[in-house]
Amino acid sequence: MLHFDQLPAAALAQRFGTPLYVYEEQTIRQAYRRLRAAFAFTDLRLHYAMKANANPWILRLLLEEGAHIDAVSAGEVHLALAAGCPAHRILYTQSAASDADMAFALQRGVLVNAESLSQLARLGSLAPGSRVCVRLNIYLGGGHHSHVITGGPDSKFGIDWEQWPQVQELLTAKGLRLVGLHCHIGSGIRDASLLAHAVSHLFHTARNFGPLEFLDFGGGLGVPYRDEEGPLDLAHFASLMEEKYRAFCQDTGTSPAIALEPGRFLVATAGNLLCRVTSVKQERKHLFVGTDTGFNHLVRPAFYGSFHRIDAVTPRPGELRPTVVTGNLCEGGDLFTRDEHGPLPRLLPPLQEGDLLVLREAGAYGFAMSSRYNSVPLPAEVLVDGNQAKLIRRRETLEDLLTTVPTALAPETL
Ligand SMILES: Cc1ncc(COP(=O)(O)O)c(C=O)c1O
Repeated sequence: MLHFDQLPAAALAQRFGTPLYVYEEQTIRQAYRRLRAAFAFTDLRLHYAMKANANPWILRLLLEEGAHIDAVSAGEVHLALAAGCPAHRILYTQSAASDADMAFALQRGVLVNAESLSQLARLGSLAPGSRVCVRLNIYLGGGHHSHVITGGPDSKFGIDWEQWPQVQELLTAKGLRLVGLHCHIGSGIRDASLLAHAVSHLFHTARNFGPLEFLDFGGGLGVPYRDEEGPLDLAHFASLMEEKYRAFCQDTGTSPAIALEPGRFLVATAGNLLCRVTSVKQERKHLFVGTDTGFNHLVRPAFYGSFHRIDAVTPRPGELRPTVVTGNLCEGGDLFTRDEHGPLPRLLPPLQEGDLLVLREAGAYGFAMSSRYNSVPLPAEVLVDGNQAKLIRRRETLEDLLTTVPTALAPETL
């Protein structure tokens, strides 16, 4: 029988229904502590990249652990503040930021991370003399899929690092105070030397600027999704980083704080999507096992061809069979056992309608990327600790689908 912490999965399904996101609180806390403990830096700021999972109760527990926040929208800033994060612990990294986006952050005392020369100039006009961080494209990228590579010639993010003289000019012209430099090369990277390469590059560019309060190397720290995948070698990453830091401090006579922005690393393995088998059919080519969820609730397989381990809550005896696990949406790509091209049968124990399944490692970019496609309400989220379960987001109802639609129309002539 499969458990989440001390609670049987079946009991959770019975109490809260399915589909259900279940997170293990201690797994999140342990991931945070493991990451913190890996580095010797005294001033290390771990900005939780809340895009990975923005449930306010998850934010709260990471804030309790000492996390800072990486926010990428006004909504994320709003949620972080509402969860009790002090404004000075948030870095706001909005892609294609409008003046209104920046004003929102500035009014709340949140530091803006500017990612284009135009944004920097506009920030200077909006808030002359203010503190600012600058996001650079260091022309290095990586990640589990091309969609998540955020550095290099095809990336929309950041200011080309070779434009640092223009950055300097703008800072001077606008009287802005540069307090931090930032880069983020991608997501789902388990290669410590690639991450360390980015670190070297940012240290190198930072030598062109005056003393900085911090250097932020972004997130991207990967976790294994398949049994055969190894974890990121944190100790190796930390030692490479520390070596480069010592050289930087010696050369520049400064000792900036170090920031990282882990999202996936902190929450991916803590989260599971618990669902129920609603349809079993043997077709000419495949055995299709349909569930009561779909890519509206976990889009990673459909969007990236990502692999999620799938476990039966109570495996039935019998031979493993090549099985295609599907969602319940009206779309051919709505499959959980697939790659970028299409169905990829997985060897699973015999399954019957009514059985419970768990999609593993779904805590990052799971609920956070969910949608109401096909007008299906969003699932509930539960946080488990020991033998206690806390409902941290109720299941949406059909009524919720109509909350933003007026019941009567009020036409306006503009
Ligand atoms: C600026 C920035 N920081 C941090 C992250 C978090 O990445 P990850 O969840 O891979 O750690 C992202 C994700 O894309 C990002 O865009």
